[in-house]
Amino acid sequence: MWILGQVDSKSVDAMVASANDAANQMAASQDSAAWASATINLSYLVASVLFLMGIKGLTHPRTAVKGNILSAIGMAIAMAATFGLEDVNWAVVIGGLVVGAVIGTVAAVRVKMTGMPEMVGLFNGFGGAASVFVAWVELLKINPHAGDFLQSSIASGAAGLIGGVTLMGSLMACGKLMELKIFWSPWRVPGQNGVMVTAILVSLGICGWIVAAPEQAALSYTLLVVLSLVLGILVVGPIGGADMPVVIAFLNSLSGLAAAATGFVISNTVLIIAGSLVGASGLILTHIMCVAMNRTWGNVFFSGIDASKATSSDDIYTGKVKSTTADEIAMMLDTASRVVIVPGYGMAVAQAQHAVRDLYLLLEEHGVNVEFAIHPVAGRMPGHMNVLLAEVDIPYDKLLEPDQINPQFEQIDVAIVLGANDVVNPDARRADSPIAGMPIIDVDKARVVIVVKRSLSPGYAKIPNPLFAADNTMMFFADGKKAVMDIVAAIKEQ
Ligand code: TAP
Repeated sequence: MWILGQVDSKSVDAMVASANDAANQMAASQDSAAWASATINLSYLVASVLFLMGIKGLTHPRTAVKGNILSAIGMAIAMAATFGLEDVNWAVVIGGLVVGAVIGTVAAVRVKMTGMPEMVGLFNGFGGAASVFVAWVELLKINPHAGDFLQSSIASGAAGLIGGVTLMGSLMACGKLMELKIFWSPWRVPGQNGVMVTAILVSLGICGWIVAAPEQAALSYTLLVVLSLVLGILVVGPIGGADMPVVIAFLNSLSGLAAAATGFVISNTVLIIAGSLVGASGLILTHIMCVAMNRTWGNVFFSGIDASKATSSDDIYTGKVKSTTADEIAMMLDTASRVVIVPGYGMAVAQAQHAVRDLYLLLEEHGVNVEFAIHPVAGRMPGHMNVLLAEVDIPYDKLLEPDQINPQFEQIDVAIVLGANDVVNPDARRADSPIAGMPIIDVDKARVVIVVKRSLSPGYAKIPNPLFAADNTMMFFADGKKAVMDIVAAIKEQ
């Protein structure tokens, strides 16, 4: 009995010890899981604060570079934190990072500056596609009895719907930016607005179906994605010409909203925050672009622009266009005291910004006050002209918005329009013009206007420009970069 008692008490001690060990190990692993989760959440918080500071920095050209760097650091922290998540398939994550990094680097290095808007458009579309696929995979794994089923299924529907519209809309927008004929011309299906509203309502109905019948999610989600792709075509198809900036900003916003919805699907805080920031800032930019074009959201998405209402170019130009040379321009600039340069898409095509900086420095050396008038939709992407001029260190206080410079044009001796067209088209003041009411830069009110471009061809909106035939306008038909270099050379020879 005593021996048995000894054995029993030893085994009881051993059992107690091993139970203690197990409890300690469990506590340790719970501690380390809690630590990991706390570290991930803290990293997400830091990343989110950096995103906010980054966006704040992007509100002014002077702080934009710093803002970009802060946001990039935030993104790096968010990505690093993701490695701490449980159930990470390392092969997939690292494979994705390598493939993405290679494609991104090659695209960024090889794309021409003029191709940047298309590339940004495509990246928006890829963001939408990523949201569609992530939500798809998660939806198929979803447990209808789990506590977060409602959140995940609604969010999956939203990610699929918004992501699909973003993907197909961005591909269409990219084709329009490339001015591919098949995409460029705006078109509408019969009863376009009714078809669009019906497609939206049916899509919302399918979202409801996903929630109500999770066992049929594979079918309902597939239908939702197909319909959202069609909706993307329907939304962007009818838009063209001067309305494109609005669509670009809107698609950018949608890519953020799709990412935020995906964040709810996989319960990832930083994705929700980053997606919401992109979504919200994109919506604000869309509104700014609408104001810049003096259009409402309804006009852009449900009415479109009818370029056929434009006056024919023959009526405008025949016998009225005067051309000039670099030497004549140099002489005009010699007597000028205030000069305004209005850059447009042609400056980007010609990559004339370095030559423009030379002209600016030379004229300022000669005592001429040179300023730049920047239209918010000049070029092919928001801030396009600001980026090019910042690249060559033109001081920010020399860049003026239309509201600032327009009241002063009567005191401007020479306005040089460099590869701009739609943003200086006075046809916008004609009540029945297709671009009626679009705010423009009032260059035609300057004493002399010099327009540098290669021909009389219209701008992106395909509307002839009466400025080219105005009494005070002279056309310098040449490539933008060569033209400015020739003017600089002519000034130096004087
Ligand atoms: P546009 O109206 O597109 O005119 C650009 C002009 O540049 C063309 O008339 C072209 O005439 C000239 N050009 C092209 N290559 C040139 C070169 N190498 N050297 C000299 N000139 C050259 O540009 P804009 O005034 O900047 O207006 C922007 C337009 O694009 C607006 O309609 C806007 O709504 C639209 N858009 C803007 C955005 C954003 S977000 N900014 C996005 C999409 C569309 P030649 O061929 O005769 O040289």
